[in-house]
Amino acid sequence: MFAFFFLLFTALIYHVFAQVPGFFSIDCGGTEKFLDEIGLEWTPDKLVCGNAANISVGSENTKPYTTLRYFPADSRKYCYTLSVEARKRYLVRASFLYGNFDRNDVYPKFDISLGATHWSTIVISDADTLEVRELIFLATSPSISVCLSNASTGQPFISTLELRQFNGSMYYTDFETASYLSVSARINFGAVNNDSVRYPDDPFDRIWESDSIRKANFLVDVAAGTSKISTTTPINVNRDERPPEKVMQTAVVGRNGLLNYRLNLDGFPGFGWAFSYFSEIEDLGANESRKFRLKLPGYPDITKATVNIQENAQGRYRLYEPGFTNLSLPFVLTFSFGKTADSSRGPLLNAMEINKYLQINFGSPDAAVISGLTSQYPQADWAQEGGDPCLPVPWSWLQCSMDAQPRIFAILLSRKNLPGNIPSKISKLTGLVELWLDGNSLSGSIPDLSDCTNLRIIHLENNRLTGALPSFLTGLPNLAELYVQNNLLSGRVPRGLLDKKVVINYAGNINLRPEGKGPNHTNIIVISILGGSLLLIIVIITCCFFFVRRKKHQDNEKDDASGLQPPRKTTSSQSEGPAETAHFFTYEEIEDATGKFQKRIGSGGFGTVYYGRLNDGKEIAVKVLSSNSYQGKKEFSNEVSLLSRIHHRNLVAFLGYCQEEGKSILVYEYMHNGTLKEHLYGPLTQERAIDWIKRLEIAEDAAKAIEYLHTGCIPSIIHRDLKSSNILLDKHMRAKVSDFGLSKLAVDASSHVSSMVRGTVGYLDPEYYISQQLTEKSDVYSFGVILLELISGQEAISNESFGVHCRNIVQWARFRIDNGDIQSIIDTSLQGNLNVQSVWKIAEKAMQCVQPHGRDRPPISEVLKEIQDAISIERGSESEDSSEGVSRDSRHSSLNLATNDPGVSDTFVSSFDDDPIVLPTAR
Ligand SMILES: *[C@@H]1O[C@H](CO)[C@@H](O)[C@H](O)[C@H]1NC(C)=O
Repeated sequence: MFAFFFLLFTALIYHVFAQVPGFFSIDCGGTEKFLDEIGLEWTPDKLVCGNAANISVGSENTKPYTTLRYFPADSRKYCYTLSVEARKRYLVRASFLYGNFDRNDVYPKFDISLGATHWSTIVISDADTLEVRELIFLATSPSISVCLSNASTGQPFISTLELRQFNGSMYYTDFETASYLSVSARINFGAVNNDSVRYPDDPFDRIWESDSIRKANFLVDVAAGTSKISTTTPINVNRDERPPEKVMQTAVVGRNGLLNYRLNLDGFPGFGWAFSYFSEIEDLGANESRKFRLKLPGYPDITKATVNIQENAQGRYRLYEPGFTNLSLPFVLTFSFGKTADSSRGPLLNAMEINKYLQINFGSPDAAVISGLTSQYPQADWAQEGGDPCLPVPWSWLQCSMDAQPRIFAILLSRKNLPGNIPSKISKLTGLVELWLDGNSLSGSIPDLSDCTNLRIIHLENNRLTGALPSFLTGLPNLAELYVQNNLLSGRVPRGLLDKKVVINYAGNINLRPEGKGPNHTNIIVISILGGSLLLIIVIITCCFFFVRRKKHQDNEKDDASGLQPPRKTTSSQSEGPAETAHFFTYEEIEDATGKFQKRIGSGGFGTVYYGRLNDGKEIAVKVLSSNSYQGKKEFSNEVSLLSRIHHRNLVAFLGYCQEEGKSILVYEYMHNGTLKEHLYGPLTQERAIDWIKRLEIAEDAAKAIEYLHTGCIPSIIHRDLKSSNILLDKHMRAKVSDFGLSKLAVDASSHVSSMVRGTVGYLDPEYYISQQLTEKSDVYSFGVILLELISGQEAISNESFGVHCRNIVQWARFRIDNGDIQSIIDTSLQGNLNVQSVWKIAEKAMQCVQPHGRDRPPISEVLKEIQDAISIERGSESEDSSEGVSRDSRHSSLNLATNDPGVSDTFVSSFDDDPIVLPTAR
């Protein structure tokens, strides 16, 4: 068990020993050193945490990207620590090429950070697109850490990590001790092809992107008359980090007097650093001139300055680099250069660089103290986790407060084989509330922790501590638990500790006795001479002892089951708070966004949903949970931490939560087109009816979401309350599944969750209702009902639609499908406008989904495939001529449906509103 833990965290400290001075290139997941095509030396990462993987990559100079390292999608962070020289500027570059390394096709999304500063969220949207992030920073300490954490989908991974040292002052700014520069755009204009310019042309190996590259909203709206020019004449680029000559030898010119571009700036809006680079590389005649002005919409002042390259640079083939060291820029930047009236030539542009200021987070104020502590244990893996102790997520053996500058709140170093004395540095952690050092080999006396006035829980039991119980313990105002049993402590237990409401255990210290009692020195006769009052105390202590032993025993069982020692559950309020990954909204923000809960857009058994709009214009759906839906803070925080880890394009995005003013609120993205239910039946069907192909696409989207919940999440997630009112439609009528209010993490097959039967009448799996054993197949049942709704446009439960003896869509549809009569269940608004073969496919699958026994139902992936087949049939017949003539008898002959208990659904139908029912289980 310990060995496993041992392997999990060991970040290697790298020493820069590259062949290009100041360069260090890590090939993550690699196995050996190598030189790449451009002469850079790559070093394998040799990290013992995470796993290496290989992917296949197409084009040239891609060897470093063929390997990567990936990490568990857990609540920890995984760090690379690199040596740097303090007071030097560096470029750090991390790149990510997914390549479907896990054969999972789930595109990962996770965060990277530099030390305690959130650097970027890596969102993989394509298996073959390389994601690159670059940051320019001034080193202030001898090492930096790049950490991966907070995976919300897939597993965090990294392909390469590169460090390049600068030697000049191009990137000096007044803000550099408080901000990093995050690279947003570095463009080589007039590039001869799509290739970037980098090392060796750029001695600092910056990547100058070609302006010919085609990607979304990158250098669009190019003005007519823009042409590329280039020269081979050497260009005087002066010194330090000016753009390399090769970049300056190409340019664009606006032959019609205008250069215009629009591009997206990663990371913006915000304050940024922006420079343009000009060099005159055309021959201007004696009477000719090139004068132009920059135009940035909304920046009248900037427009005033005139650029005259030759004059400004004092000659041709020389560099002129005007720029702004602090400029507020939008995400979509439009800029243009226009020639002045008296200029004979149009504007010219060679290169441009835009970086965003990223405010440095200096992390936990306890970082220095705790790193002093970990440096005493150079061999221990828990001491090598790297990065800030608290941010973006705490080390595995720490808990931190939720402040912007988090304090260390708990030290959890039970059973870590710690030798030596208890580090006295702990006394500097004044925010400390819990100290768990039990089960180690600690010796010496208990240090003075009187400065840690917040200490509530101290566990020092099962060590070899000597000396007395120090008197400061009686002065700790919040002390509630003090465990020091089974040590070698001696002397008296201060009376203050026995009087107060402190749970104390000091058994097994043969020379330690309560204060003010008999002078005996051997424990054999202690009992015989004890006074009655002391006997009482001993009885109490013994009870406590047994209580603790039992509790501990349970803990141990848990530990053994997981094979790993989990961070201890603590009694603090902080530790019960929702995961740090979820965004927290204040109640005030929510009130502002919703205009004090003005527009109600939905309601269900779990609360009311309101429309809202955030300050940045983003539309949101605010779900105020009814007070009885979450009995406790704990359930709510379970929910929130679960939600914040689920991310899929067909799941309604969870944006954050609020728990204030006695309200529990969840914030989701707003879905413009409401619920599927509204479109199938009810008031909207007339004006916004949806055709069959659209319905299939909606089914496909929803099935993908369910497949992700069932197979893309570890452990898998069972939705429990799938229904047409939980399938929402966005602006483009793409479907997303919502309402994870009932989701619980699925446990393994042998022990299925059985607490409360939950779900909605009409969609509820009858087997689950009877057995209370929840499996993924319960969702498949509900999804089958939704498929029937899509075909028929009927509600799942209806008093009128299905005749006198039947209120349930499953029975109604089954009877007709069994008899080969599909026409009578097809929604009348679809008649004639579809291919019956594709309807049969869906109907057949739906019937399998609603089989009474879960084992007879297909997995959702199989259902998804069938839907996709139906879509291609439908698309095929769209292009031909819609042929209704497909023999339904031939389709029907392949139907092989088990006979079903016709009453099974009705047995649990007691009401038929849309509210979920919650039935306590009979245990
Ligand atoms: C840039 O200017 C703004 C407004 O003048 C100021 O608030 C900010 O601190 C400056 N620097 C950075 C790094 O944002």
